[in-house]
Amino acid sequence: MTFTTRLTELLGIEHPILLAPMGSASGGALAAAVTSAGGFGFVGSGYASSETVHREMLAAGNVRIGVGFINWALQDRPEALDAALEHDPAAVMLSFGDPTPFASRVKQAGSLLFCQVQTLDMAKQAADAGADVIIAQGRDAGGHSGHVRGTFGLVPSVVDAVAPIPVVAAGAVADGRGLAAALVLGAEGVLMGTRFAASKESQWSEVLKQGAVAAASDDTEQTRVFDIVRGAAWPTHFPGRAVRNAFSARWNGREEDLANQRDAENARYDATEAGDLSTGVLWAGEGVDLVKDIPSARDIVLRTVAEARKALGASWPG
Ligand SMILES: Cc1cc2nc3c(=O)[nH]c(=O)nc-3n(C[C@H](O)[C@H](O)[C@H](O)COP(=O)(O)O)c2cc1C
Repeated sequence: MTFTTRLTELLGIEHPILLAPMGSASGGALAAAVTSAGGFGFVGSGYASSETVHREMLAAGNVRIGVGFINWALQDRPEALDAALEHDPAAVMLSFGDPTPFASRVKQAGSLLFCQVQTLDMAKQAADAGADVIIAQGRDAGGHSGHVRGTFGLVPSVVDAVAPIPVVAAGAVADGRGLAAALVLGAEGVLMGTRFAASKESQWSEVLKQGAVAAASDDTEQTRVFDIVRGAAWPTHFPGRAVRNAFSARWNGREEDLANQRDAENARYDATEAGDLSTGVLWAGEGVDLVKDIPSARDIVLRTVAEARKALGASWPG
C-alpha cells in the first residue's frame, strides 16, 4: 500500500513522507529509520554545526538521507554546508530565510534542493533560486515557522504559484488524515516533525517524548521567549511553537525585560532545562493532540500511509 507522487518519483522512495530536519531530534539514526521504512529522512544540523553534520551523517550509515539548514545561521557558518556536501546527501533543505546564496552550491554538488517557506513571497523566491521541491510550512508547525499563514491555506496557494515544482505540506500533519488532506490540497507529500520527535529513534529525552504524549494542542503557542533566554538569534518574524509552561507564561509579552535580564535568567534556565518542562522548552505543533504513543519511526510511516489510504479510498491514484 503506497502513494506514488512526483515527490516519491523524484527521491526514488516508496511513501511521500519526509522527516523534518529537527535540530534536537532528527539525528542520523532517526533519519535512516524513516528512509528505511520507505519515507525519507533529513538530519537537523542545529545552528549549522559542522560537527553535528559529520557525526549524524555518519550515524546514518549507508542509508540515503538529506540534511537541513537554517539559512540565517548558515550565513554565519557557511562551512557547515561544505561539511554536509562531503557526505553526498541526496537532498539539502534550506529553511528560514533567502536560500539564494547557497542554492547553486547545493545543485552543483548534485543534491536535490528542498526549500521550506512560510509565505507565498518566500515560495516564489525559492522557485527563482531553483528549488527542486518547495515545502509550504504553516504556523501550525512545531518549532519555528512564520506567524502569518496556516498550513491549510498556504499549501494550495503555493501549489498554484510555483507549479510545476512539487510542493510538500508541513505543519500539524501527525497522522494519515493529515497526509490525505495534504494530497487533496495538491501537495505531493508531507514533512512531519512533532510526530517523529516522539518516536523511539528520536534524539529527544524520555521527558520530552512523554511530555509530547501528555501535551494538548490548545496549550501550544508561538513564542520568542525560549529563543531570547537561550540567546538564539531568530528573526522576530520566525517565532517558535511550543507548549506553554510556567516560564513562557511569566515572560510572554515582556520580551524586552527578559532580554535585559538574560544573563541571570539564562543561568536559571540552563540549570533546569533538561528535565523540567515547567521551564525547559517542549517544541510541538498543533498536531500534538494526535501524539499518543512513542512508536518506532517505521510504525509511524506505515500507519500514516494506511490511515491515508483508508481516508481517501482505493480510488485515489497511486
Ligand atoms: C522539535 C522541533 C525542532 C525543529 N527544528 C528545526 C530545524 O532545526 N530546522 C528546520 O528547518 N525546521 C525545524 N523544525 C520545523 C520542521 O522543519 C517542520 O516544519 C515542522 O516540524 C512541521 O510541523 P509539525 O511539527 O507540526 O509536524 C523543528 C520542529 C520541531 C517540532
